[in-house]
Amino acid sequence: MARASDGGDFDRHVPVVMVKVGRYPLHHGTLGAIRSLGRAGIPVYAITEDRFTPAAVSRYLQGHVIWPTTGKEKEECLAEGLAEVGRRIGRRSVAIATDDEAAVLLAEYRSDLAEWFLLPSVSPALPRSLASKRGLHEICERFGVTAPRACLPSSMDDIRAFADQATFPAVVKNGDPWARLRAPAVLSTTVVASGDDLLSLAASWPSEANVILQEYIPRADAEDWIFHGYFDGASSCLAGFTGVKLRSWPPHAGVTTYGCTVSNASLAAQSSALCKLLGYSGIVDLDWRFDRRDGKYKLLDFNPRLGAQFRLFENEAGIDVVRAAHLDLTDRKVPCAPQVDNRRLIVENLDAPARLAYRRQDQCSWAADTARGKKAFAWMGCDDPLPFFVMGVRSAWHVARRLPPVARLRERSR
Ligand SMILES: Nc1ncnc2c1ncn2[C@@H]1O[C@H](COP(=O)(O)OP(=O)(O)O)[C@@H](O)[C@H]1O
Ligand SMILES: [Mg+2]
Repeated sequence: MARASDGGDFDRHVPVVMVKVGRYPLHHGTLGAIRSLGRAGIPVYAITEDRFTPAAVSRYLQGHVIWPTTGKEKEECLAEGLAEVGRRIGRRSVAIATDDEAAVLLAEYRSDLAEWFLLPSVSPALPRSLASKRGLHEICERFGVTAPRACLPSSMDDIRAFADQATFPAVVKNGDPWARLRAPAVLSTTVVASGDDLLSLAASWPSEANVILQEYIPRADAEDWIFHGYFDGASSCLAGFTGVKLRSWPPHAGVTTYGCTVSNASLAAQSSALCKLLGYSGIVDLDWRFDRRDGKYKLLDFNPRLGAQFRLFENEAGIDVVRAAHLDLTDRKVPCAPQVDNRRLIVENLDAPARLAYRRQDQCSWAADTARGKKAFAWMGCDDPLPFFVMGVRSAWHVARRLPPVARLRERSR
């Protein structure tokens, strides 16, 4: 039976497992999903790096499987590991990927994993092409989707030619999801100020670097928009949300640390039409950059999986994308309602440095408009406080390890 405010008539016999590849123990999206589903009475399991991650200590987590991975393992071995996780849970569960590599594996090994997991019926090869920045560029060209102009270099000569002819600043991104973990050319999306800067960055790359070089859409003329949605087997949008990224970490080029919900019917329609055209099904997190110079939304990123900031969004029936996925994959109806607007999400650990970095810069006009909106925190939860403290301790330890040793500081001060 549906509980009041639970957001749907859930089949609580079907668990959820949060699936990841790679090491990122401080992931607020995983915790958000555990809390959202757990509060609805759905048993949630997670793959974790160790027993003391914020997700692992959530009171809403039914159990975890400790399975540290790096992304450098063979893909067949990772797929076998996922099947083993399913076997250990012992019941067919809804699998929710929190990174591109996990999403790629779940799609490509769907027929092998179907015994253990309920998965969206997306075409197996699609998530890999969408999650790849190079693949996405080709898809945008094929389907006429507006995106930043780009160069897909296949040799150092191509990079040199770009350095010579392109307008700078320009943007450098890793080409593919696996490249990001196995042989990253850049740690994350990187803005290079000049051709010389690009060439000195490229000096350490192998001759066939897996990167994409993009036109930079200037900050003064841009707004970063996000679309989160869930698409059913017919690629119809059952839950779709839009919002604005107000701060990110690393600054202006990273994950959302502070965002707000803003209804944008035309962007929602544009995103839904794209997913329909592609025959996409499952959870999606899209990054668009609105370019005021030509009035167009340009697609930067297509994440075929849960986005870390997804808890920013829910509709007036209490549905977010993980709840929508569970309802649909267990053949329940997804309640349809308008998105809750004027909500803000703050990612405590990342927004603290981001605030400093953005201090002297002009805020996007949305920041002032939404300052009175309802504020939510990514880690803090009054009914589930432990993950916040574990996050705090792990973050402090992470920072302390990077500080110069006291002895060296003393020596320097002499
Ligand atoms: N071509 C670009 N011009 C200006 N800013 C960009 C561009 N591409 C990305 N960014 C900024 O970097 C952020 C992260 O880029 P994205 O392509 O989403 O990569 P990822 O999320 O995989 O790191 C974007 O949200 C945007 O703020
Ligand atoms: Mg992105």
